[in-house]
Amino acid sequence: MDRNNIPQHIAIIMDGNGRWAMAQGKPRTFGHQAGVDTVRRITAECTRLGVKYLTLYTFSTENWNRPADEVAALMALVISALEEPLFKENNVRFRVIGDMDRLPADVQEKLKGLEERTAEYTAMTMVVALSYSSRWEITDTMKRIAKEAKDGKLDIGSITEDTLTERLQTSFMPDPDLLIRTGGELRISNYLLWQIAYSELYFCDTFWPDFTEENLHKAIESYQQRQRRFGKTEEQVENEETA
Ligand code: IPE
Ligand code: IPE
Ligand code: MG
Repeated sequence: MDRNNIPQHIAIIMDGNGRWAMAQGKPRTFGHQAGVDTVRRITAECTRLGVKYLTLYTFSTENWNRPADEVAALMALVISALEEPLFKENNVRFRVIGDMDRLPADVQEKLKGLEERTAEYTAMTMVVALSYSSRWEITDTMKRIAKEAKDGKLDIGSITEDTLTERLQTSFMPDPDLLIRTGGELRISNYLLWQIAYSELYFCDTFWPDFTEENLHKAIESYQQRQRRFGKTEEQVENEETA
C-alpha cells in the first residue's frame, strides 16, 4: 500500500451483519452488535492512514421496512454505539446525513449532541448515513431548489450541477474516491448516487463483522492500482501526472 496515495474520502456499504449472525445460529441483531466493533476498528485505522472522510451506510430509507423489532434494536444500537471516546481518542468529527425527521426523538438528540461536541475534532470526519437514501436526498434537495426558484431567489437559467451539489446534505465534503461494499452483493442500494459518479468501486464477500484492517488495506491497494481518467484518455492523464 502506497502511504502517499490514500483516498481522501472512503464510503462504505456495511453489509452482511444478518447473514454473519444467522450462519452461527444467532439472531440478526447479534450481527449488528458485532458490526459496531468493526466500525470502531475501521474508524481508528482510517484515521491512522490519513483518510479525511469516512461515510458509513448505517440504515437506509428502505430499511424502515424491516421487522419492527430489528428496527428498534438498530436504533438502540445507534444510541449506545456512538460514544464520545471513539471520537475524542481518534480526533474524529461526527456528522450525520439522512431523513432525521423519521428518527425517534432520543436518537435525534443524541446525534445532534454528538455533532456539536465533536465539531472541533480535525483528524477525520465520520459521516453516518442514517434513514438515508440517495433518491430521498435528491428529491428533498429538488424541492428546496424549486422553492428558491418560486420565491425568485434562484434563476432557472443559472442552474448548474453545482446548484444541486451545493444543496445536498453532503455539500460539506468532497465526493468519495473509493466506495467499498462488504457482504458479497454487487449493487449500490440507493447510496450516494450523485456523489459516486466517478468513485472507484470495490466489492468483497467478507461480511461486515469479519471485515479487518487488512481487508481495508486490500481495498485501498486495489484503488491505487487504477487510473482515474474522468473521461479523458490514458495518455492525457499520464501527461498531466508528469506535468
Ligand atoms: C447491514 O447488514 C446492516 C443494515 C442494513 C442495517 P444486513 O442487516 O443487511 O445484513 P444481511 O445483508 O442481511 O446479511
Ligand atoms: C444496504 O444494505 C444498506 C446498509 C448497509 C445500511 P441492505 O442489506 O439494506 O441492501 P439490500 O437490501 O441487500 O440491497
Ligand atoms: Mg444486507
